[in-house]
Amino acid sequence: MTLELSLNQQPAHARQGSSIGQPLTRRDGFLKVTGGARYAADNHPPGMLYAVLAVSSIARGRVAALDTEAAKAHKGVVEVMTPKNRPALAIDPDAKDNPFMFRLDLLQNDQVRYPNQSIAVVIAETLEAATEGAALLSPRYEALPARVGLDGAKSFVPRGVGIGGPAVQHKGDVETGLRSAKTRIEATYETPAQYHNAMEPHAIVVAWDGDRLSIDTPSQGLAMAQGRIAGLFGIAPENIHIRSPFLGGGFGSKGMISGPQVLGILAARLVGRPVKLVLRREQMYGPVGHRAPTRQTLRMGMDGEGRLTAIDHHARTASSTFDDFFEPAADASHTLYASPAIATSHDAVRLDTGTPLFMRAPGEATGSIALESAIDEAAHACGMDPLEFRLRNYAEVEPMTGKPFSSKALRECYRQAAETFGWASRPLQPRLMRDADGFLTGWGMGTATFPALMFQAEARAVLRSDGSGLMETGAQDMGQGAWTAFAQIAADGLGLDIDRVEFRAGSSDLPNAGIAGGSGHTATAGMAIHNAGAAVIARLADLATGNEASPLFGAGNEGVLARGGRLYRRDDESRGESYAEILMRAGLTEIEAHGKGAPDPASQETYAKHAHGAVFAEVKVDPDFGQIRVTRLVGAFAAGRVINPRLVRSQYYGGMIWGISFALHEEAITDRRSGRIQNANLAEYHVPVNADVPSVEALLVHEDDPYVNALGIKGVGEIGITGTAGAIANAVWHATGVRPRRFPIRIEDLLG
Ligand code: MOS
Repeated sequence: MTLELSLNQQPAHARQGSSIGQPLTRRDGFLKVTGGARYAADNHPPGMLYAVLAVSSIARGRVAALDTEAAKAHKGVVEVMTPKNRPALAIDPDAKDNPFMFRLDLLQNDQVRYPNQSIAVVIAETLEAATEGAALLSPRYEALPARVGLDGAKSFVPRGVGIGGPAVQHKGDVETGLRSAKTRIEATYETPAQYHNAMEPHAIVVAWDGDRLSIDTPSQGLAMAQGRIAGLFGIAPENIHIRSPFLGGGFGSKGMISGPQVLGILAARLVGRPVKLVLRREQMYGPVGHRAPTRQTLRMGMDGEGRLTAIDHHARTASSTFDDFFEPAADASHTLYASPAIATSHDAVRLDTGTPLFMRAPGEATGSIALESAIDEAAHACGMDPLEFRLRNYAEVEPMTGKPFSSKALRECYRQAAETFGWASRPLQPRLMRDADGFLTGWGMGTATFPALMFQAEARAVLRSDGSGLMETGAQDMGQGAWTAFAQIAADGLGLDIDRVEFRAGSSDLPNAGIAGGSGHTATAGMAIHNAGAAVIARLADLATGNEASPLFGAGNEGVLARGGRLYRRDDESRGESYAEILMRAGLTEIEAHGKGAPDPASQETYAKHAHGAVFAEVKVDPDFGQIRVTRLVGAFAAGRVINPRLVRSQYYGGMIWGISFALHEEAITDRRSGRIQNANLAEYHVPVNADVPSVEALLVHEDDPYVNALGIKGVGEIGITGTAGAIANAVWHATGVRPRRFPIRIEDLLG
């Protein structure tokens, strides 16, 4: 067992009692802080070469010439891979059999369709030589004008948005609803393109052995990555071994294998030696997905009591010229506020960018920032406190489908967060609060929501005659602590002390744990683990209850309890025996069983499933210079059962801090002449640093939701971002009286 795959050593925590619900520290924390955790790029198989991408500096056109001779003549350069000598693939990288098969740029021709597209790969003995070789290629281009911005091309209505939802939906008639309204608002908001800046850039270390592949690369979905690579190279998935024990962040960018990762595999094929390829930070601005920009218009009507009569939410978004992903921003209006009439629609333009893809709360993040801003405007248009207004309008059943859902917990989130924040003393009108230093102070709120999704996962459980257990599933830990939470679920599922459980994950050789995405990993793989545990305990109980020599003889499977490595009679806990005794008597060294995690179709049909939350923000704005600071954030979230409160809270913090980033910092700026992103680096692409992040509080609101799954788990990864950005925008209005219409909110927008 390699170090990175077995995490039951030296747990850095004190453990008590049953595992689920305990605030354990990350089981891999010790490895990480001591440098023992081996990330993909830390691997150096013998004979490994370094591959460096050469990327396009134009947005559209073709590569007319590359000086491969100059690159090859450089000392240490072994080979230059271009469309001319790139090894053959089994399928066209532009083939698309299903909506989740995204087109890849794998040097299939000389065309350039976005800036930072790969145009060649230089392979050398050292990173320095490969980097210099790439610079020596001195490409010449035939460039065409770049299509840039949300008005940069003719718009159209896409066939589907997000993961295949309809682009246009409605219930009731919004025009009638708006006509009958006493008060109406209409407002347009713009959100920028955001790009992935995970701590760990995409990296791959590849070794071929005949038609077998050994790969180290970060992946949020090992089986999917394995399947995609198998298809591209025409080899069996089981011949591809992918290790992904640690990810330095994913956020959606590592959900699908990206073009550069596949180019690493091709480079290793070409030179017949192991190859490492790591993206430079600026190279992440193109081929690994991004959050598309949006322009959203909301119209709302309210009756005399401040009840919504209509919500109309339209979103313009952008995709690439060669593939389809459309940010489902307007769909945010489907799941939160009740209205007799709701209409959502999307249109899009095709721009010379890499294909936008999943980025933390895709659709929910962009959509909720506009929806929560508009709700705040609607409340104030009615002369109502925004919390009052939300309490009047939040839905008891899912607005679009009429299915029951857990909005009772949302009411509790509002209550707890408002009380902790001190919302009750907020003046209704803006510009009324100043602090001792004269800064304009404002308070705003936003509602958070995210669907409780489940996908498909499998796990394998083993009980051994030494009294220990093993749980295996090919789960992915992006840094959020999945390995710890899953080990906790495994320990309870096996009825073992957590230190007696070996938990293996992060490898494609293990049972398919599905994808770490959509905030559904803990629920999905967690249920597989839970079910595998229950199945192996049932086998163990069969061995005991069917054997006259056992104190459990005759109890029947339902009549036993598993705890602390022992089975007990449910009706008489003094009668029991250890797992080890049962297995040894049966002459077995181990027993195993499998389990699956999947959504329950009947429950899916009947109930709408969402996590809920409420976020309250305080900002201070310099009255002369317009500088904005977030000074307080309080969120309360109800997301079903909490497996580990320490890890869950840290997910909420992460989401809320991304909310600050969305409101005040992040934006990819495109040069309108060249189509290039001007701030494609961590220095100029702003993200919040410690000085930007105030006191952040996340309250965990108790929620038993019996409908999501047997463990009652929802998801916590993405919800935090959805309420926060709107809350900050609304606080800025409350401080200044100026409505933010574009994000990030700029100083110049506040200086009237
Ligand atoms: Mo996420 S955007 O589901 O990794």
